Formats: sequence, structure tokens, C-alpha cells
Amino acid sequence: MSLPNHGANANHLYERLGIKMPEAVIDYSENVNPLGPPPFVKEHWESYASLITKYPDPYGEPFLSAAAAYHKVTVDQIIVGNGAAEIFASLAKRYENKRAVLIHPTFSEYTSTLTPYHVYIKEIIALQALPMEEVLDEIEFAEVIYICRPNNPTGYLISLEEIIQIAEYAKRYKCEVILDEAFLDFIDERESFIPLLKGFPNVIVVRSMTKMYAIPGLRLGYAIAIEQIINETRATMPHWNSNAIATTIGAACLKEEEYRLQAIAFAGVMRERFTVFLENWHCEVLPSRTNFVCFQLPNPDRSKEFFTYLLAKGCVLRHTENFKGLDGKWFRVGMKEELHMERLQKEMTAWFEENWSS
Ligand SMILES: Cc1ncc(COP(=O)(O)O)c(C=O)c1O
Repeated sequence: MSLPNHGANANHLYERLGIKMPEAVIDYSENVNPLGPPPFVKEHWESYASLITKYPDPYGEPFLSAAAAYHKVTVDQIIVGNGAAEIFASLAKRYENKRAVLIHPTFSEYTSTLTPYHVYIKEIIALQALPMEEVLDEIEFAEVIYICRPNNPTGYLISLEEIIQIAEYAKRYKCEVILDEAFLDFIDERESFIPLLKGFPNVIVVRSMTKMYAIPGLRLGYAIAIEQIINETRATMPHWNSNAIATTIGAACLKEEEYRLQAIAFAGVMRERFTVFLENWHCEVLPSRTNFVCFQLPNPDRSKEFFTYLLAKGCVLRHTENFKGLDGKWFRVGMKEELHMERLQKEMTAWFEENWSS
């Protein structure tokens, strides 16, 4: 039976596997900021109620202007979406009956949004460093390449130099680059490609407000590119696609510098601790730069047992059955608050002791 293609909504996972869901479940398959939304969201919550009686701004204001100011671009270069997911769905139409390059394992929405448009997808597998020669060769024949930076689910960050090389080569061969920076907030804005967009009319950077600001339920994402691409994409999107509460909260989130720095530091500490724990148990850990960690058991053949054991204990990891190149033999764990990380390590330790000690 196929497992859900995304993390979160753990109830679906228990249902499909026929495992009784314990009363207390901690969902490590979710990878949003464990610190929760910035405090102002709760404090001002009641003030948002009045927003629902009017139609929202069709361009996503006040978020549109706030995002333009944050990234130092013009409002004509941004399109606001009902989550980055909506942006991917709209962008996919550009490539109907064309050729795309995807580097797996990666976010499954690239494939699922391209498939209805009969896009031929060339798949390259790279858990860490990209096979640059192969990537550049494929770009020559493609209309688009998708790159997730840092990559979900591995957490791997391709260097800016490599992305520039890819973007330059793609420009020469009239290939567009969709650069997914949904998790870049957890690194440093100086790692973003956005300031370089001026020289690259073929690059579209997609961002999400979901991850850093822990607001997946609100739905807010955006893309930055040249005006022509933005207008073409907008033409395929529904009017009033972003809701007023999301755009109001999103605009205020971008002012939360302290909160962002705290989240970056916290993710770094948790990632480091969890990596040490995993390595002590001889697991293979991929070097992550963001707020989740991807690892493999010393004996990956026991992955299913391990996964269901933890489910029964109320610890939900992100399985990797639908990630090409990981094939269910790896797990992704979103960093959580300290107590929850300790709980996971306790349950994992019990399993390791039972299954690995001589
Ligand atoms: C890499 C990546 N990009 C984009 C998204 C979608 O983000 P949003 O919630 O803004 O639609 C996700 C969601 O999991 C993701 O993992």
C-alpha cells in the first residue's frame, strides 16, 4: 500500500498502515519551525477577524509590498501564491509538452505538478554533490531545471557558485531555472539567489512563508522573477488566490528579524545534537544546513520495522518511500523543541539497544 507523499497529517499514515494511533503523537515528519509562529500572531489574532468580510487584494497586498521591500526588488517582480505549492502548480503550465530536469531525491510537487502537462522529465539522482557534467549536458536539451536549495529531504545546500554556473549555462541554452528556496530562511539571506536575479532573466526563485514562520495552515508563498514571467504566471492563477489573513500576517512576519535569528540558531543546535546521537549509533547522516536531518540505519533492511516501531510509540518520522534515490531506506526528521527531541532519542535508543546490542 502506498504511503502519503508528504509529511504532516500523521492520521493518514496510521490509517494506511492499519496501526492504532496513540493518543499522544509527535510528528517529526513535519519540518516547520518548532518555535511556532511569531508571538504577535496570537496577540493580534482577534484583530484579523474583520479581514474576512472583504475580498482580499488580488495581488496579495500588504504582503506583496513587504516582500518587495524585504528582498529589495520591485512589486512587478513578485507573484504571491496560496503557498509555494500553488506557484509550482501555476509554473508547470509553462512547460507543457516540453522537457524538464529534476534532481532527486527532492520535493515531490515538482513531478506531480508537471505530470498533468505531459512534461518529459529527465531524472538525475544526487544525494549530495551534483554531477555537474551530467546536469549541464541535460540542460542543453531542456526547457526547465528544478533545483531545491537547500534540498528537501536531504538538507544539502548546493553552493552559490554551482547555482550560478547552472544558471549561466541554462541562460545560454534558453532553459529556465526554478530555484526553490523554501528552506533558505533557516540558513542566511546572503545565500539567496535573489540579489543575483538581475543578471538572470531565466531564473525564477520560489519562496515559502510556511517553514520559517510556522504558518503552513495559512498558505502563503511567492516567486520572484522578471516581470514578463510574473505576468504570464499571474494570468494562469485565480483572482484573489491569497487570503487577507495570510497576507496581513505574512507582511508582519517579514519584520521579525530577532525571531528568525533565534530559529536559525535553534535549528543549528538541534541538528548538531541529533547528528551526534545518530552517528553514535552508527547511522549514516546526510550533512544538512536546514531544520531537518536525513539519516539511514546501519542496517537499512530494517527500516520498515524501525519505522513502525516508532509509530506505535507515537513518534512519526518522514518515510522516504516516494523519494527516488532514498527508496524508503532513509528517514527525515524535522527538528522539534528540546523535550520532543529527547523523547525521540529515548525511543530510538530503546530500539537500538534491543536490536543492536550483542
Ligand atoms: C521544498 C519545498 N518547497 C515548497 C513547499 C511548499 O510550501 P508551501 O507550504 O508554501 O506551499 C514545501 C512543502 O513541504 C517544500 O518542502
